[in-house]
Amino acid sequence: SIKAFIFDLDGVITDTAKFHFIAWQKLAHRLGFDIDHAFNETLKGVGRMDSLNLILKHGGLTLSDAEKEVHAAQKNDEYVELIADMSTADLLPGARAALESIRAAGLRTGLASASKNASTILARLGVTDLFDTIVDARDVINGKPDPEIFLKGAQQLGLSPSECIGVEDAVAGIQAIKSAGMFAIGIGEPSVLTQADKVIAGLQFFDLDEFIQLAQP
Ligand code: G6P
Ligand code: MG
Repeated sequence: SIKAFIFDLDGVITDTAKFHFIAWQKLAHRLGFDIDHAFNETLKGVGRMDSLNLILKHGGLTLSDAEKEVHAAQKNDEYVELIADMSTADLLPGARAALESIRAAGLRTGLASASKNASTILARLGVTDLFDTIVDARDVINGKPDPEIFLKGAQQLGLSPSECIGVEDAVAGIQAIKSAGMFAIGIGEPSVLTQADKVIAGLQFFDLDEFIQLAQP
């Protein structure tokens, strides 16, 4: 039976995609090209260095590993500055209520984020204590769509994947949840998140009983 929900952070609990986009676009401009919102979609859920590699490919550029480290660090410095003013007001609608309803029902919560800034952001949002376990980019070798981060979340909760439901806004994230053998709830558009078992527009539509029933028919 279902005993836990494991959430992605960016795009599910809070909207940091806009900050990542600003910082990546500055980097692209420094390198002499532009990235648009459509391309930015392909970066969701993708780790920092993997994102940089996609961006360089998009701009037709090749850089040395040392140069890449410099640009990735500069992007992160800018990103960290952009998220410095985040507060509880930056929680997406329904996020806190969803986490509280899960815990009130005696189920557990986990976070599986590809971001190395995850714990900082959770603290700013004031929701660190609502998670029973946290796995971020520092704890895994393989990024999404590899299932490692969700499998590690389940393991840290002492549960099997079939006892967990994953919640994600990125195509790569839904792939990771499905490869982990979990029921996948997508946050966004059904036409984009085609591999998800159920798609809702946002956590304001989170319905604990419905999702548990769907996941264990
Ligand atoms: C999340 C975001 C990605 C971001 C990644 C790494 O998955 O959706 O856009 O690139 O985290 O974030 P970081 O804060 O470590 O650069
Ligand atoms: Mg996300």
